[in-house]
Amino acid sequence: MKTLGVLISGRGSNLQALIDAQRAGTLGGAIAVVVSNVDGVPGLDRARVAGLPAVCCPQGGRTREDHDRALVAVLREHDVDLVCLAGYMRLLSPAFLEAFSGRILNVHPSLLPAFPGRDAQRQAWEHGVKVSGATVHFVEAMLDSGPIVLQEAVPVAEDDTVERLSARILEAEHRIYPRAVRIVLEGRYKWDGRRVRVSAGA
Ligand code: GAR
Repeated sequence: MKTLGVLISGRGSNLQALIDAQRAGTLGGAIAVVVSNVDGVPGLDRARVAGLPAVCCPQGGRTREDHDRALVAVLREHDVDLVCLAGYMRLLSPAFLEAFSGRILNVHPSLLPAFPGRDAQRQAWEHGVKVSGATVHFVEAMLDSGPIVLQEAVPVAEDDTVERLSARILEAEHRIYPRAVRIVLEGRYKWDGRRVRVSAGA
């Protein structure tokens, strides 16, 4: 059974989507550990309620590199095959990226490469786009730039608010993240340059 390490910084609704998929037998693997860089966040409670190891690993006074080395140690201790960023709001150091090269996924609330960075839903709404959405991609050194595994488009209604749009995008995230994890864990994809070619499956 392949294993996931999920990194969070807050609410953890995407973590919950992964937990629910695991319970339903549609994740293609098992969550081995949940790590938050912020103490006391709801996502840690979700992990504990699900009976998963939940580790808090704040940066404290450490450098980014030292903090990331500690993270890598926790993930290795739990034999993690794939790292899933689920609202993890910190850039990863080169050492972390190297330790899990090609084995880190992220979910982002826009149709990348449009609107990378924070508050992507608001960026899209303020820009006046007619369609936004959600993206799951492999993580590379540049922020929100790695090869795309899955995307789902979310139309923007004429009378939308950023809150309503964000809620619909979040639902899309919850649909595509577990599916993307399964594709990757089952090896149902091929690299074609920076294109991720996904083959059909369950
Ligand atoms: C999600 O919308 C996720 O896409 C976003 O943070 C939210 C976390 O929600 N991540 C980013 O913006 C990363 N660039 P959650 O904690 O409820 O999963």
